[in-house]
This record gives sequence, structure tokens and C-alpha cells, in this order.
Amino acid sequence: MNITPVPGACGAEITGIDLSKDMSDAIVADIRDAFVEYHVLFFRDQSLDPAQQVAFGECFGELEDYPFVAPLPGHPKIIPVIKEPDEKTNFGGGWHTDLIYRETPPMGTMLYAVETPTRGGDTLFANGIRAFEALSPRMQTLLESLDVEYNVRNILQTIADRDNASSQGNRSMEGTSDEGVLNETPVHPLIRTHPESGRKGIYFSRGHTVRFDGMTTGESRPLLDWIQQHMTQPALTTRFHWEPGSLAFWDNRCLNHYALNDYHGERRYMHRLTIAGDKPR
Ligand code: SIN
Repeated sequence: MNITPVPGACGAEITGIDLSKDMSDAIVADIRDAFVEYHVLFFRDQSLDPAQQVAFGECFGELEDYPFVAPLPGHPKIIPVIKEPDEKTNFGGGWHTDLIYRETPPMGTMLYAVETPTRGGDTLFANGIRAFEALSPRMQTLLESLDVEYNVRNILQTIADRDNASSQGNRSMEGTSDEGVLNETPVHPLIRTHPESGRKGIYFSRGHTVRFDGMTTGESRPLLDWIQQHMTQPALTTRFHWEPGSLAFWDNRCLNHYALNDYHGERRYMHRLTIAGDKPR
């Protein structure tokens, strides 16, 4: 197995491994170390059926259900992420980290490409640890004193407002039967200490924010917007180009990601699973 850092602010490509095979504990430990160091790992030329993707995902923790999209038949932990040629909106088309609106958000997401457009459909990643380290000491101290309240309704409304009837966004809305999730308003620290590396990073998802804990939405907005702009500046990002058989495994505890929507008229079809995490601290 070879681990090669990719250009940009995070990420490494791993070659020389077949993810459809059983993994030894030693290989899993090496992948986990690389995951903690590089935050997102890229694998190419894989051939994974849903059961094999689940088996690989389970090497890193317990798999979770996703509340807003129906899973693949027979594979309750995998959701399809699809944009059809006639659709205009996509899933994940804005900077975010997955499920930050839960009390205990997932530690990682694994996305496997089944079908990709001939060009476009890349995913961007932004490094919250680098973003924190790039701040002045005074700004670091200020941000460390803040907690953020989250809720999923804002983003669902944004998706509903911009979607047409057949889009993935509306397919997502159809699955919104879990009132419990809709009503969760967790408060998480803005600066999270990574539970495995001990490094501090900005832990944030602008589209899901309500406000800073203890402030009004109006007071919160300017600084929330600035943090978003700071964290996602080009120098703090990495871009991944998908091909059929590519798999990305990213760390939701310190990254934002953004699915580009620049391939209208073509189909993109992915299998996605999430791995349970811990309460952010
Ligand atoms: C997601 O936000 O989980 C999907 C990312 C992608 O499709 O590239």
C-alpha cells in the first residue's frame, strides 16, 4: 500500500490496495493513521458492490442511518446520491460537514463513484485545522470561546426553494419523516479538538447554523459569514476528480466539503455511507 499526499490543503491518495478484499488489522490501522494525518483519503480503480463497501466502512466504526434519503434496497446503511441528466440541483452542493445538526455527528463519510459525468462533478474539501492555525492568536482565542447552535430545517428550506420537482433535493425532502431530527438543535463548540490527533480546528457548517449560542441571529451572521469565507479560501482546499470506481473517505470532524454541480445533462451516481462519531468537544 502506498500513501501519496495530493496537492492542496488536505488529502492523500492510497494505491496498491483492493478494498473489496478482507483487511488485516495492520492495514486498517495504517489507513486510519493516514486518515487522521491527511483528513481525506482517495482510492481509485476499485470495484465495490454495496456489501463490500459496507464491510470496508465497518472497519472504521459503526455505520449510521441517514434520515433524509431512502437507502439502497437491502442495504440500509448506503444511500444513493444521484443527479439525473434532466435535473438541475444536486445533493451536497454547498460547503458543509455532514450531519452537524445531530447531537452526535458522524466521524466520517465514504463515497463511492458508480457512474460519473464525462467531465465535472468534482468534490472540494476545506481543511478546518489549517483554517484555525492560519488565524491570529487573538482571533483563535475569540473563536475558542464560541459555541454554535445548529438545525437542519434551514438547509432543507433552501433546497426546497431552489429545487424543481424531480431533483435529488426533493427526493431528500420526501424522506423527512423523522420529526426528532428536524427538531434537534444541538450546540457544538466552534473550535473542536480532534479526538484522535488532539489538533484544534474550525468545526462548522454555515448552511446548518442557527446562531452563536447566547447571541441573536443578526449578531451572529457577520462572523458566521466571515468564518465561512476564511475556511473555504482556495489555499485551504483540495479538489478531487471522480472516475467510476473512485472512493473518497473523509473526516467530518475537521473538513467541509462541496459537491460541484457543473455537469448538467449527464448522470452522476454514487453510494454513500457514514460512520458514527462522538460528541464534539
Ligand atoms: C455529500 O455531500 O455527501 C456528497 C458529496 C458529493 O456527492 O460529492
